[in-house]
Amino acid sequence: MTDPDDRELIEASLEEAAERAGDLTPLVYARLFAGQPQMEALFWRDRTGQIRGEMLARVFEAILDFVGERLYAEHLIQTSVVVHTEYGVPPDIFRTFFGVVAATVREVLDDAWTPEMSAAWDGLLRDVDDYVRAGAPA
Ligand code: HEM
Repeated sequence: MTDPDDRELIEASLEEAAERAGDLTPLVYARLFAGQPQMEALFWRDRTGQIRGEMLARVFEAILDFVGERLYAEHLIQTSVVVHTEYGVPPDIFRTFFGVVAATVREVLDDAWTPEMSAAWDGLLRDVDDYVRAGAPA
């Protein structure tokens, strides 16, 4: 389980990011495609940006559940890994994507980003990576 202090830090950072920047969708995908240009082509069906927005909303929900009750996040992450192989998304990109979300939050928070938040997000990224590995097809 996520440490309650880390949960609070991650929730607070996401709330602050939403307050400062509103919808993080454009920032997250711009950062993803800047670092992983080959990923952009995978969203070829997404002419309007709707899938990207919907997916990021699911990812935020998954993060909040993952650091909280963990009612469904572990299962969602593992099934997403399997489903996404059909979209051509390799499992190791999950860590990349969650890392991009963290980096975007950090950028938006700017001077409000703290070392404690950084440590909490690092822990989250490690935990998520463990679940991705557990769900990755052999
Ligand atoms: C736990 C993590 C993730 C969740 C919960 C998730 C969720 C989703 C959902 C719900 C959709 C369908 C959206 C819709 O049709 O409205 C979707 C589509 C998609 N996701 Fe993810 N996703 C995750 C991780 C990733 C990662 C790491 C990538 C890599 C960049 C990725 C790439 C895609 C692509 C390319 C599509 C579009 C597929 C299509 O052509 O329809 N996803 N995702």
